[in-house]
Amino acid sequence: MASPDLYLSPYSRIPGRLLYRISSIPSRLIMLLGQLPEVAEDDYYTFGDIFMIRPDVVVLSNPADCRTVLSTHRFIKSDMYKGFALIDETIFTTQSADLTNMRRRQIGPAFTHGYLNEMEPIILECGIHAIRAKWDKELAQSTTGRSITVNYALHFTMVSFDVIGALGCGQRFNAVRDNTTQLIDWVNDFNTLSIIKLVFDRVTSFPASLLVRRLTQNLDKFVAFGNAAAERRREQLRQGEIEKPKDVLQILIDGQDPESKAKMTATQVTAENIGLLVAGTDTTSLTMMWTLHYLMLYPDAYRRATEEVRAAFPRHYTITYAEGKARLPFIDACLNESTRIRAVTGVPLPRIVPEGGATFQGHFLPAGTQVGVNIAGANHHQGTWENPRRFMPERFLDNEKAKHNLLTFSSGVRICPGRNLAQYEMMSVIANLLKDYDFALPPDSLFTPERLDEHGNPVAMPRTHSLTVGPKYPERDCRIVVTPAPDY
Ligand code: HEM
Repeated sequence: MASPDLYLSPYSRIPGRLLYRISSIPSRLIMLLGQLPEVAEDDYYTFGDIFMIRPDVVVLSNPADCRTVLSTHRFIKSDMYKGFALIDETIFTTQSADLTNMRRRQIGPAFTHGYLNEMEPIILECGIHAIRAKWDKELAQSTTGRSITVNYALHFTMVSFDVIGALGCGQRFNAVRDNTTQLIDWVNDFNTLSIIKLVFDRVTSFPASLLVRRLTQNLDKFVAFGNAAAERRREQLRQGEIEKPKDVLQILIDGQDPESKAKMTATQVTAENIGLLVAGTDTTSLTMMWTLHYLMLYPDAYRRATEEVRAAFPRHYTITYAEGKARLPFIDACLNESTRIRAVTGVPLPRIVPEGGATFQGHFLPAGTQVGVNIAGANHHQGTWENPRRFMPERFLDNEKAKHNLLTFSSGVRICPGRNLAQYEMMSVIANLLKDYDFALPPDSLFTPERLDEHGNPVAMPRTHSLTVGPKYPERDCRIVVTPAPDY
């Protein structure tokens, strides 16, 4: 029988599964197993705009409610973020409005369009040029004729690491070219350690630390690597060996808060740099991955995107972000739609209700309640989006309101500062690939335009959920047949 607390609780009228209302253990387990994003999306469809996920955690999916929470520093980030402060407090982990604002003034200049345009040669070199070189080499060596089958999930992951690695560390990792994954492994280990720490806070203290020794050792290596990258840059500049490069690392080193005149310490530079690598790699690569997957499931959209880019640009040409943005509205819409239908940050963003409490959907939530901003729910909100389960890029064409309604990059005071960088990379990679290659699903693909779900939409491949939402079986489901586009 349910305890009387259940009925006396201030949340008793809020819907949710009985199990989650009684104890926080099921939701902690779900978090550890990486299933929270799936729950957040499925429970939105079951329970609607507001529901419980733990006895004291309320999830909000109404876009207006989400924006209310995100718009101000009054709803601070929950203690969950402390799990990510493995090196030092960062722009991502901090609960302090002052530190957030200062870091935005120090780091923000790296992500303005002016600075991104100056960094774009590196984004193109480590992004589209690298992937094109790899595929063209494999095509030239192919014994089966003019096509190859590649795992695009893997290649997009390596591309994203190469781009952000080059911008943040000032050196080339060439993961795409050499199939190396060292940086990727370090970032994955960082995420794993953070998640374990979220659930067992004391895991990094002896003796529990023995259980995660490999992860902490890799963290130490990662930090040493980050420190060395910044130190090498400082030394090269001291010795006059190089002109000041235009990249993210330089902004981190130089970044001065115009108000307080504060610069970051060496530890803070490394902590922020690793934080950017962690925040910016999986998110960007998975978005490109879902975009290509949905284009394969919706052949009309794929055809239209391909025709658009081939009509706008010649065959042997590299499209930049600005050119794509100006002349490829449908591809831009495909990127927006893929971030809507499958937001890669699936975990409801946890915030704390401030002094005085807050009312959402007619329910008063006392101060201290944890609310989860459900990006996946808001991006599928049935009152906001027509037929939300369907991939319909055209909903974004000439529709500023639809773009405004997207919550993929969060919103308000903690909105993703790296969103412009992600857009530069995604537009240049996806637009150029669609121009230069024809894509087709392998004949044995399990997920095709013909395989429909109960709503009449193509079934997307199964997902794995952790902090980000990716393909569950990439080796099986992210294979694609690549053929050079005909000269046109
Ligand atoms: C498609 C790609 C991306 C998506 C979908 C995305 C999404 C998000 C979301 C939803 C948040 C809010 C997280 C929260 O409040 O807990 C966020 C924050 C953040 N993102 Fe991104 N992001 C992307 C790419 C990037 C890139 C490329 C970078 C930098 C290189 C970056 C750096 C950050 C940082 C530092 C924060 C923390 C900001 C703060 O708390 O004030 N992101 N991102």
